[in-house]
Amino acid sequence: MKKSSIPGFYKLSPEERLSIVKNFAGLTDEEARLLSDTGSLDMDTLNIIIENVIGVMGLPLGIATNFKINGRDYLIPMAIEESSVVAAASNAAKMARVKGGFYTESTDPIMIGQVQLVDIQNANDAKERIIQNKDRILDLAKEQDPVLVKFGGGPRDLKVKIIDTEQGPMLRIHLLVDVRDAMGANAVNTMAEAIAPVLEELSGGRALLRIISNLAVHRMAKARAVFAKEAIGGKDAVDDVIKAYLFALNDIYRCATHNKGIMNGIVAVAIATGQDHRAIEAGAHTYAAMEHYKPLTRYYKNKEGDLVGEIEIPMAVGTVGGATKVHPAFKVCQKILGVKSAKEMGEVFAAVGLAQNFAALRALATEGIQKGHMSLHARNIAVMAGAKGEQIEAVAKKMIEEKNIRMHRAQELLKEL
Ligand code: MEV
Repeated sequence: MKKSSIPGFYKLSPEERLSIVKNFAGLTDEEARLLSDTGSLDMDTLNIIIENVIGVMGLPLGIATNFKINGRDYLIPMAIEESSVVAAASNAAKMARVKGGFYTESTDPIMIGQVQLVDIQNANDAKERIIQNKDRILDLAKEQDPVLVKFGGGPRDLKVKIIDTEQGPMLRIHLLVDVRDAMGANAVNTMAEAIAPVLEELSGGRALLRIISNLAVHRMAKARAVFAKEAIGGKDAVDDVIKAYLFALNDIYRCATHNKGIMNGIVAVAIATGQDHRAIEAGAHTYAAMEHYKPLTRYYKNKEGDLVGEIEIPMAVGTVGGATKVHPAFKVCQKILGVKSAKEMGEVFAAVGLAQNFAALRALATEGIQKGHMSLHARNIAVMAGAKGEQIEAVAKKMIEEKNIRMHRAQELLKEL
């Protein structure tokens, strides 16, 4: 009987762990090598980033071109397994360039630390006492991170709310922290934990959860672009992209896919640059759902008849701290992106999200998404069937012509070649 309980697994070297996994899962030597070949990364570094490391998971890294943001050109590194995303972003950015590209802005990098207070006798009194001691609590939070304070960040405000629950009232404390160039989770969590005992003392209750909120509503990035009608296929294209947007605005099933398309771009650049893309994604969808689930972008026609696209999205990203410090490839991708601050990074991400969404809507509203997808899919199938070099294009082309993109057909074509 195979056992997944492996005492001391964490103490072993990556090689020893891989050997156990190899036996457990019946991996061949080649399969095991596939995971342990770390390329330009070294196993010791990987081993300190997460626990129980056995190897590395490679993803294609592509570069989206044509991005002009606030008058400056950017190359966007994108790590993603889905074909078409990089090409679509580049294509949309090219169309946006005609009218100057993307224009962005963002708020200060304020994150929220939450403390949950339970077992409270009198919620109103407790709330009042905490508010009266706000300065003392903010000072205590400030002491936790002198470096952040030195760089102009630190705690900014404290908000208290009574939440009625199935087990009576609880208090929700929001500590608002300017985290400057960090994503902020570490700084905010440390502060939330540090102020919890004082909150307990003042409320007579018990601090339960003390953790960042990923709904970063105070840390918003906005991007805007004008897509000239001539550049995107004429007046009909403008009208149809707006109709596609209205579909998402009025139908939650469409809206999920609309927002997913936005996140295709943002998550890809987030992965390449070592961001917590789960946090960005959680924040984005929750923000979209704050009233009722809505598109994160919007589109309208300007006086000239061109299409205006806008995005507004919470953006918790960091250029310092986290995995970006240790993982060399993240550092290189940040260098390619060439941003000077987390604020700039968040704005670039917003522009990428808008570009990705516009590309998807335009493709869907004109030729449909499958044409572009299919040619890439056909190449993938050709590779899986064993095609190499020039064979890949030849097999893919034939399968597309025949409208028969299947592994079996790819293998037949390969034999004929
Ligand atoms: C596919 O990954 C993303 C799209 O479905 C987005 C959309 O429908 O807007 C093409």
